[in-house]
Amino acid sequence: MKINRVIAIAAILLYAHTTEGQPLVVKADKPTAAIQPTMWGIFFEDINFAADGGLYAELVKNRSFEFFTPLTGWSIRQASPTTGSVLVTNRLETDSANQRYIRVTRNTATGEFGLTNEGFRGMGIKQNEQYIFTVSARSEAGNLALHVQLVDSTGKNLGESQTINISGNNWQQYKTSLTANATELKARLNVWFEGEGVADFDMLSLFPQHTWKERPNGLRADLVQLLADMKPGFLRFPGGCIVEGRELATRYQWKKTVGPVEERQVIVNRWNTEFAHRPTPDYFQSFGLGFFEYFQLAEDIGATPLPILNCGMACQFNSAEVVDTTQLDPYIQDALDLIEFANGDVSTKWGRLREVMGHAAPFNLKLLGIGNEQWGPQYVERYKIFTKAIKSKYPEIQLVNSVGPSPDDERFHFLNDTLRKLNADILDEHYYSSPSWFQNNASRYDDYDRNGPKIFAGEYAAQSVATVSPLNKNNWLCALSEAAFMTGLERNADIVQMASYAPLFAHVEGWQWTPDLIWFDNLKSFGTTNYYVQKLFANNKGDNIVAITSANEALKGKDSLYASAVTSAANEVILKIVNTSSRSISKQINIDTKKKLASKATVTMLQSNDLTMVNSIESPKNISPQVSEAEVTGRQLNLALRPYSFTVIHIKMQ
Ligand code: AHR
Repeated sequence: MKINRVIAIAAILLYAHTTEGQPLVVKADKPTAAIQPTMWGIFFEDINFAADGGLYAELVKNRSFEFFTPLTGWSIRQASPTTGSVLVTNRLETDSANQRYIRVTRNTATGEFGLTNEGFRGMGIKQNEQYIFTVSARSEAGNLALHVQLVDSTGKNLGESQTINISGNNWQQYKTSLTANATELKARLNVWFEGEGVADFDMLSLFPQHTWKERPNGLRADLVQLLADMKPGFLRFPGGCIVEGRELATRYQWKKTVGPVEERQVIVNRWNTEFAHRPTPDYFQSFGLGFFEYFQLAEDIGATPLPILNCGMACQFNSAEVVDTTQLDPYIQDALDLIEFANGDVSTKWGRLREVMGHAAPFNLKLLGIGNEQWGPQYVERYKIFTKAIKSKYPEIQLVNSVGPSPDDERFHFLNDTLRKLNADILDEHYYSSPSWFQNNASRYDDYDRNGPKIFAGEYAAQSVATVSPLNKNNWLCALSEAAFMTGLERNADIVQMASYAPLFAHVEGWQWTPDLIWFDNLKSFGTTNYYVQKLFANNKGDNIVAITSANEALKGKDSLYASAVTSAANEVILKIVNTSSRSISKQINIDTKKKLASKATVTMLQSNDLTMVNSIESPKNISPQVSEAEVTGRQLNLALRPYSFTVIHIKMQ
C-alpha cells in the first residue's frame, strides 16, 4: 500500500516537471518567416554506382575500352584460337579524350567469334521491352558484320538483333535493336562478328528504349521518378568528394562532361579505391551523365540547380593537393564559363553549346558551390579569389561555401568564424553522426545569428554504427532521429534555407558507402525509411513558419516530442510531430486562428515499434506513409501520437 502511494506521488511529481498534460498550441495566424522554395532538396554524387550502373541507363560497362585494363567487363568468345583476334589500339596522338578502340579480325567465316559484356553486375532486362544497340565502326578489309544478342546467366537467348554490315573506311555510327523475350536481373550482351575481314569498333552501347521522358540514351525512369516524387527544391551535383578528386588530376571538370558523349574523357571514379573494405576496381566515370544532363534533370524535377565546383583543392582526406594561388585562373574561368553555359545568351560560346545540346533557354542558375568539404586557411585564400572574380562579373549568383566535414570541430569553428566575417552568402554544413546526435541537436540553429550567412545543411545522415562503417543500416531509428532534427531545421527556416540527405543512391551490389537514401538493383529500386522522411518534409514544405509550442516552449525533445508547423499559400496549416518514445502520447492540439477549420484533418504517419526495421528490395514499403483522418472540433483536435512515430497533419483553413 505504502509503495503504491510512493509510486503515485512520484508519478505526480514527474508529471509536474513535464509538459505532457499540456496542449500543443499552433499560432496559425502569426507567420514568423517565409520558407524558401529551395528548402528540401537532393544531393547527387556518383558514389555507389549512382551514375554509371545506376541513373545513367547505359547497360554496357567500359563501352570505349578506357578502363585501366582495357578489356575490363569484356570477354572474347571464339570457336578456336585461330578464328579471329581482338587488338586494343590506342590513338592518343590524335584523340586524347577517347584514346582506345578495338581492331577485330575474323579469319574465317565459320565458327563462333564475338565479345561478351557483363554489364554493371549484370544487365537488368525487361520482357517485351526494346533495347537499342549502337556502335562506332569502320571497315579495314573484307566484309565484317555483326549482330547482338542478350542472354541470361545460363546463356539462354533473351533476344537477338538483325545483322549490321560494316562498310566504308570512315568511322560511322551503326544502330540496331532487339526486344527481350523475358525479364532477367543479370543478363549479358553478346556481340557476334560474322563474315571475314578486319574492322575497328568503339563506343559499343546498349540502352533501354524506355528511359525517363523516353529520351534516347537517357536516365533510368524508375530512379528519376523516385526523385521527382520528392518534389525537391534543389539538386546539388556532382558531389561530394568527387568534385575534389583524390588528387587534382582526377578532380571533376565540367567542361569534359559536355558535348558529344564520345568526346567526354573517361576517368577513374575516386570511390574505386577509397575503401579497402569495399574495393570497386571497375568503377569509372563515362560522364554520359554530365553537366548538361544534370541541369536538364534539375529542370525536369522542378529543382533549382546547384553545381559544386573544384576550387583548386583535392580531397583533404586523400592527397590534400592544392593549386598554387597564382595558377588558379583556369579554375576560375571554369566557374565563369559554367555560369555562361547555364545562363548565357546563345550568341555566347558556352550558351551556344547549351543550344547545340538541345536547350536554347537558360537553365536559370542562381547558386554555385565553391569547393566541397574543404578546410583550413588554404580554403579561405582560394575562397576570396573565387568570390572576387565571380561576384564582380555575376553579383546575382549566391555562393555556397564549405565549413569543413564536421559540424563542431576546430576546422568548423575556424571557417565558420572567418567566413562570417567575410560576409559569405551560404555556409554548407555536413553532419554524419549518431541517431542521438540528431535528436540532441534539434535546437542547433535556434541561437544562430539571424543576420549572418544562410545555412545549407548540405550532407547529413544518421549512422547506425559509425561513419563509413559498412554495417550502417537505413533503419527506422536513424530515420526517426533525422525527422526529429529536421523539425529544428524547419523551425529555423529563416536561416536554414536548404537541406539534403547524403549520399543519394546505392546499387545493392556496387556500393561503397552506407547508409544511402535510395537503393536499387538492375531492375528495381526502393526508398528507404529515410527517403520517406525526406519526402514527407519536402511534399509538405509550406510557405511560412508558424510557432507550435507546449507550455509556451518549442518542442525540441522534452518528453520525447519534436515539432514544427507551417502554413501554406493553399490555406493549410501543416504540423510535423515526432514522438521518439516507446509510448503512445495523447495530445490535444489547439489551432490559434481567426479562420475556420475544416472538420477533418489528414494524418500521414510513418511508424514502427521496431527501431531496427528497414525497407528492402523484397519489402520496399515496410515503413511507408499511412494516411488516415482525424476529427477537428472547432479549432481543436485530439491525437494519439504513436510510439516511435513521425506524423504530418494537414488541416484546411477557410
Ligand atoms: O556523401 C559521401 C561523402 O561524404 C561525400 O562525398 C563527402 O562530401 C562527405 O565526406
